[in-house]
Amino acid sequence: MFKCIFREGNVYKCLLNGEWIESKTGQRDQIFSPTDGALVGEVQAISKEEANHFVLSAQAAQKAWAKVPVTERAAVVHKAAEILEREKETIADILVKEIAKNKKSALSEIMRTADLMHFTAEEGKRVTGESLSSDVFPGYSEKKLLIVNRVPLGVVLCISPFNYPVNLAASKIAPALVAGNSVVFKPPTQGAIAALYLARVFCEAGVPPGVLNVLTGQGREIGDYLVSHSGINMIAFTGSSKVGKHIATLAGMKPLLLELGGKDAAIVLPDADIQAAAKHIVAGAFSYSGQRCTAVKRILIIESVANPLIDALLPLVKKLTVGKPENNADITPLISNAAADYVQELIDDAIGKGAKLLTGNQREKNLMYPTIFDSVTREMRLAWEEPFGPVLPIMRVKNANEAIQIANESEYGLQTSVFTSNIDQAFEVAEKLEVGTVQINSKTERGPDHFPFMGVKSSGLGTQGIRYSIEAMSRSKAIVLNFK
Ligand code: NAP
Ligand code: G3H
Repeated sequence: MFKCIFREGNVYKCLLNGEWIESKTGQRDQIFSPTDGALVGEVQAISKEEANHFVLSAQAAQKAWAKVPVTERAAVVHKAAEILEREKETIADILVKEIAKNKKSALSEIMRTADLMHFTAEEGKRVTGESLSSDVFPGYSEKKLLIVNRVPLGVVLCISPFNYPVNLAASKIAPALVAGNSVVFKPPTQGAIAALYLARVFCEAGVPPGVLNVLTGQGREIGDYLVSHSGINMIAFTGSSKVGKHIATLAGMKPLLLELGGKDAAIVLPDADIQAAAKHIVAGAFSYSGQRCTAVKRILIIESVANPLIDALLPLVKKLTVGKPENNADITPLISNAAADYVQELIDDAIGKGAKLLTGNQREKNLMYPTIFDSVTREMRLAWEEPFGPVLPIMRVKNANEAIQIANESEYGLQTSVFTSNIDQAFEVAEKLEVGTVQINSKTERGPDHFPFMGVKSSGLGTQGIRYSIEAMSRSKAIVLNFK
């Protein structure tokens, strides 16, 4: 059980300079369960004036933290991972209530995060500099020796989305800390309680006061203020392309790591193992009810194998259970009624324009049944927009080239899957796709978490993934020794 008090009853506090505090304004946000509307808890609505203190505290603590040997910084991250493992049941139950993630997936998010933190702690010790001698460049003697070290950036602002409140927070906080930065962490409002549990974990592990400050409050109220604050040296953001692009316009010269939206396609070629492709596609499209940036969000299928693929998909989709996260249903309520309304808009638009409904289009408030459409065309919004819900459009194409063309027409460029038994063709297609990652014969997905993860176009900027995140959160610092 947690030893320190970071909440009183249902009221959760923020972490400022090692103390758990409430907003002096008395303002709070109430967090309701997406499943039954029950109050999960209240979090502080920190004002801009108060937010300033979180940044100043992180600035004041950073230089001393950077001087702590990396082995000690890594030990704190290892300890936090152990506490997280110990508290997995408590935090998983919060995820179930707060974001309607089923218990199995909630536990898996937490255990994956503990692994990520251990791995980050180890990788932090292996980030080294280099030395270069001048004589290899024309016109220079050997009398210059360059030593390059990696140094922290300063204060990293971490902003995470609702769908992985623990994992997508720790995947920013842990590399930032191990690299010697201090952190200001703003969690999503829906997801803030689970994120505060994570903050509590780092605190108990011995992160010194000020090195990790955590503030809650609506992004639209305090986001711009934090992003533009001169005390912030780097921003690591995961969330929608809309907010990501807005942050980029405000950030000025601050380095950015942006992981944004996606419209990942699964391209199925005629020689693919259709049964295997169907299994991957269903898992990829419908886990956490499609609320993953990497969810399979459209199928591009060559006409000749469209019917066999549909025949393989439908029984799998019909087996998905729909209901409450507490009962480990596969499909659970979406994060809000507004999110479900948006998915419904895309469904209605597709039906209105002649898409063929194969299954689904059933709804109980924000609980949307898994839905598949055949014969989706370029004129339909579902072909291009990210539903972030359990709806999967099938677009029939003539050949691989047309599939590549439609995949690349997207404003997004996160991942694409290619299913084929011809490895040469797989590489040929992969090379033409404008995305961060191509998955051959598997669903689109981020993990394992030490793999680089990046999007192009509206899907992001920079590369995350354990070593890549540490590199993004540090910079080269060169010292040249000039000798006689
Ligand atoms: P979102 O609405 O963009 O929110 C993300 C975070 O940004 C939240 O913490 C939010 O706070 C905050 N925020 C809102 N306005 C802000 C502002 N002006 N300045 C700074 N921060 C601000 O995204 P979401 O609905 O939580 O997540 C779903 C989206 O994230 C989808 O598009 C999905 O594809 C994308 N996503 C991408 C990845 C990836 O790795 N590529 C991973 C996960 C999710 P509040 O909650 O207080 O509004
Ligand atoms: O929602 C976006 C996450 O980065 C996706 O991660 O592929 O492990 O579910 P995942």
